[in-house]
Amino acid sequence: MESKWLMRVLFTLFLLEGLWCQGCWDEERTALLQLKPFFTKSWHLMRNWERGEQNSDCCQWEGVECNSATGRVITLNLNYSSFEEFDGYWHSPHSLMELENVYLNASLFLPFVELKSLHLAEYGIAGCIEHEGFERLSKLRNLEILDLRFLKLSKRLSNLEILNLQGNFFNNSILSYLSEHLSLKYLNLAYNNLQASNCVEEILNLCYNILTNNFILSSLSELSSLKVLYLTRDEFEASSLADGLCELTHLLELDVGSNYLGGALPSCLANLTSLKSLSLDSNNFSGDIALSPLNKLTSLHHLSISDNHFQIPISFRPFFNHSKLKHIYAKNNEFYVDANTESLEPTFQLNTLVLSGYGDCGGIPNFLHSQHDLEHLDLSHLNLTGEFPIWLLENNTRLHTLLLANNSLSGPIGFPSHFDHMNLEVLDISKNFFEGHIQMEIKTSLPSLRNLNISRNSLTGSISPSIGDMKLYYLDLSRNSLTGSIPPSIGDMKLYHLDLSHNNLSGGIPDELTTGCSSLSVLVLSNNNLQGQIFSEKFSLFQLEELQLDGNHFSGSIPKGLSNCSYLSSIDFSNNNLSGKIPSWMGNLSYLREIIMPNNGLEGPIPIDFCQLQSLEILDLSNNNISGSLPACFKPMEINHVHLSKNRLEGSLITQFCNSFSLITLDLSDNQLSGNIPDCINMLGELSYLILKNNNLTGEIPIQLCKLQKLSLIDLSQNHLSGYIPSCLNITTFDEASKVDPSTAQAVAQPPGGPISTDEPVYFTTKSVSYSYKGKLLTYMSGIDFSCNKLTGEIPNEIGHLNKIHVLNLSHNFLVGQIPTTFSNIEQIESLDLSYNNLSGKIPPQLVQLHYLSIFSVAYNNLSGTTPARVKQFATFNENCYQGNPLLCGEPMRSCSAASPPPLIQGGPTQGREDDGSIDMGVFYVSLAVSYIMVLMTIAAVLYINPYWRRAWFYYTEMCFISCYYFMVDRLPKQFH
Ligand SMILES: *[C@@H]1O[C@H](CO)[C@@H](O)[C@H](O)[C@H]1NC(C)=O
Ligand SMILES: *[C@@H]1O[C@H](CO)[C@@H](O)[C@H](O)[C@H]1NC(C)=O
Ligand SMILES: *[C@@H]1O[C@H](CO)[C@@H](O)[C@H](O)[C@H]1NC(C)=O
Repeated sequence: MESKWLMRVLFTLFLLEGLWCQGCWDEERTALLQLKPFFTKSWHLMRNWERGEQNSDCCQWEGVECNSATGRVITLNLNYSSFEEFDGYWHSPHSLMELENVYLNASLFLPFVELKSLHLAEYGIAGCIEHEGFERLSKLRNLEILDLRFLKLSKRLSNLEILNLQGNFFNNSILSYLSEHLSLKYLNLAYNNLQASNCVEEILNLCYNILTNNFILSSLSELSSLKVLYLTRDEFEASSLADGLCELTHLLELDVGSNYLGGALPSCLANLTSLKSLSLDSNNFSGDIALSPLNKLTSLHHLSISDNHFQIPISFRPFFNHSKLKHIYAKNNEFYVDANTESLEPTFQLNTLVLSGYGDCGGIPNFLHSQHDLEHLDLSHLNLTGEFPIWLLENNTRLHTLLLANNSLSGPIGFPSHFDHMNLEVLDISKNFFEGHIQMEIKTSLPSLRNLNISRNSLTGSISPSIGDMKLYYLDLSRNSLTGSIPPSIGDMKLYHLDLSHNNLSGGIPDELTTGCSSLSVLVLSNNNLQGQIFSEKFSLFQLEELQLDGNHFSGSIPKGLSNCSYLSSIDFSNNNLSGKIPSWMGNLSYLREIIMPNNGLEGPIPIDFCQLQSLEILDLSNNNISGSLPACFKPMEINHVHLSKNRLEGSLITQFCNSFSLITLDLSDNQLSGNIPDCINMLGELSYLILKNNNLTGEIPIQLCKLQKLSLIDLSQNHLSGYIPSCLNITTFDEASKVDPSTAQAVAQPPGGPISTDEPVYFTTKSVSYSYKGKLLTYMSGIDFSCNKLTGEIPNEIGHLNKIHVLNLSHNFLVGQIPTTFSNIEQIESLDLSYNNLSGKIPPQLVQLHYLSIFSVAYNNLSGTTPARVKQFATFNENCYQGNPLLCGEPMRSCSAASPPPLIQGGPTQGREDDGSIDMGVFYVSLAVSYIMVLMTIAAVLYINPYWRRAWFYYTEMCFISCYYFMVDRLPKQFH
């Protein structure tokens, strides 16, 4: 409720903008500028809070409202939440940052002598400067509304009629304190720790308290004259709504949003016939709205049922008699097409209609033809079909927001040419099938448009230069098929957010963009054909927070201009042709969270200045030419993902990352790192992907790795590691691990609003091919690769208990002992390679139970006995998988009934091939011919009979020549002699 009211205030502010032409008072302007630093989080709002000619009239500043007669400030809206309300459009990742602690000087508000309404909600202000607390506000004789939700408030205020104390830690004792405020007409005690209260006659706001169901039962029915009741976020459980509530028949306003209420609405709700405003948002209510008691509540003016499981007919017919309805919020419910053919007209004229949700709803609902007063219309995610509804714009000239995202609308985008749509500010028609060129009459028919999103359609042609005549703040044309270059005129707009990614744009970034759009905070040009230097010398995008230029052909070095972008938090330059060194000034950009620049030609060391980047979460410099060692002081505490593979890093892997407790990915493969794997690795409790392949690491595999509960991929292959394989290793899938702790899974698998995160690929070799794993796929991948080291000892039985792993590669080591029978438990395994070791004993016949195994090798060991039965997957493994084990027999090797085993090959198993240097060439040719015929005939027969083997044929042919050769060397000569 509260926030919607605030939203209206904000909208009003925007509508009225431009009507106050008188300048504001000097002392008030000065005071506002003094306040600005306390509200850094709202700097988007305060962009135009500047001194200087252009912005001298502070009454025009956002969040400020003046008395039009006196020019004095009467409203100051610095609510943090009011920006988020704006459909998420021109607020940026920056504003999602944690609440900061700010110590306010409340005296700074004293110059606003006519101030009536002050909103500082959600500012997490830690307190006030001593003697300059909110008690000073009592000097403001006109103050009527003070909204301090989530503020800590210590001293009393007088003369207030409306007191909003949400988000404090008051308990019942506050009530006696408040009794001094006898003039209160409205009391808001939301977000406190109240247990019960009946001190208020007409309006009771108990949001965000922990109220029990008992409280409701015992107290509410006594308050029979209650007119307004807010019970938002009180943790009510299912079906307690009916009790008590239905007796409050005088209720005008009821808000039970964000509780755990569920099931169908209680039918007695129909008794609350006076209700004007009802909010049931964010519960688990279900049932068909057409059959619910809401039908009877014909006095309703405002209805919020968003985020439930209601079924709602898209015709909206059940509400046609609700003549007073103005505002309907029903997003995230299920919509259906009802087969009612009566031609009825609704009796309401709506102002706000939010019907986004899911469903397959056919055309745009008919009743909208009769609506003329709509200001906010959201019909997203309904799979609506048809053309762009020009008529909606023609008939609703007050429309301010039109959201039609994620439907199946098609055809060209058109606008009424004979209307000036003075009010439309937000238009989102993304994710449809619109095609053709962008119509430039947008600018004449929608002169107030500020937010335009046409991403994910099929637009073609180039971006017209006249786009610069619009006054957009937010422009998203990504994922279309736009061609041509970026028009320089784009720099004429005061853009905050520009996304042209995933098109076929060519040319460079025009200077006009980098000098003109000085407010730009998000610039996304990824995946086009852009080229040249990234930015020229002329550069004034000092407000940039997010810069994504990946997947283009940019060359040259990292532009110096960025060193002045002190808010920069994310850069993605991957897959370009950048060269030169990584500049040391990057270390001064203290908000940097994501540095993503793989697949370029960057060189030189990682600057020591990077040690200052304490907010860094992702560092990806893989596949460049980075040399030197990691700076010893580089200890980013917040880092989640480090990708430095395929560079020339050297030096030892000291303890850099040991304090990075949230590290999930550490990929340092294909470098020249040396030394041990540090013992402190056990500190990295979140580590899931440890890829140290192809370095010069020495020493043992540290037992501390066993402490890592979330490890899902570990690749230590191609190093010089020695010693035993730890038996206590704990490998799971990321997916599985995150079930343990859903909070991190959420944060990592789908970063909220964050663009990149696990999208950075990890390369891992499975089935003999190095695949890149990223995103969701990576979270299912799990495996161990210790191949090509100097490991000794036996394979621990416990490895067989890691039943989630997909890949196990222990090849090319000096392992001895038997293959553990427990391996048959590794049900998910797809690739098992134990070749080139000194393993002995039998191959456990139980291995045939491994249904997903597609790569298997035990070649070049000292295994004996019979090969596993040729059934299931094992029917596809040819003798390559077994060769180099002289004592092994059975299909597809020599048959076990043959008299004597061949003599032992001397030397280690790894030398198997080199030993066969000299052979009689005559014997070779004869045997080749004979075996060729034999093989052909056998294969023909086998393929005819067995479909498994038919598939196996493709593996077989691949290796045919080599295997035939060994086959004969081993067997045929003996049979001939
Ligand atoms: C409320 O509605 C129920 C039926 O839904 C009815 O039995 C009851 O008498 C009503 N109570 C009042 C006070 O009107
Ligand atoms: C959306 O509507 C189109 C056309 O009516 C239909 O072919 C398609 O299956 C629908 N998609 C979904 C997800 O319902
Ligand atoms: C616009 O409104 C008029 C007047 O109610 C109505 O007759 C007409 O059908 C509407 N236009 C469209 C295209 O719905």
